[in-house]
Amino acid sequence: MKAFLPLTLVAGLALAAACTQPSEPQGALLYVENCTGCHGLTGQGDGPLAGDYGIDVPDLTLISARNGGVFPMADVMSTIDGFTRVQHGNVVMPEFGALLEDGPIVSFDSGDGIPTPTPAALVALAEYLETLQRTP
Ligand code: HEC
Repeated sequence: MKAFLPLTLVAGLALAAACTQPSEPQGALLYVENCTGCHGLTGQGDGPLAGDYGIDVPDLTLISARNGGVFPMADVMSTIDGFTRVQHGNVVMPEFGALLEDGPIVSFDSGDGIPTPTPAALVALAEYLETLQRTP
């Protein structure tokens, strides 16, 4: 019976440790911190700043629907990063490349079969957006 107390303690500590782990994936946190102002908490383009720019903020939950049912991972990552800015003349949405590069780099294949060194935060954010996709 002597072992009972320490075992309970260990189990309790393990439980406490499990409870303090962040439950949200990093992508969701990055989204809330950087994107909700314009795109809204749900991603549907209804953030508090959405009306301030005189253009529609796109509904990020319908990216796949607008793209024939396929989530265009590489395009989405380029848009967030700021890489497509010049080609498409985007002016409103800020570039997040510099912010997201400030962290670990992973090898990621965004769909072209070529694993490319990519900021883990950019991957997490794009994968989070993929989870938001719905049918209209
Ligand atoms: C200042 C407002 C603003 C913020 C902040 C913002 N966006 Fe945007 N976003 C826009 C606007 C407006 C567009 C439409 C293109 C443009 O004019 O820049 C857009 C376009 C996009 C697109 C392309 C959608 C499509 O259908 O092609 C994606 C993906 C996107 N944003 C993701 C994000 C993510 C992820 C973040 C946070 C890291 C973010 N945005 C932060 C305003 C914003």
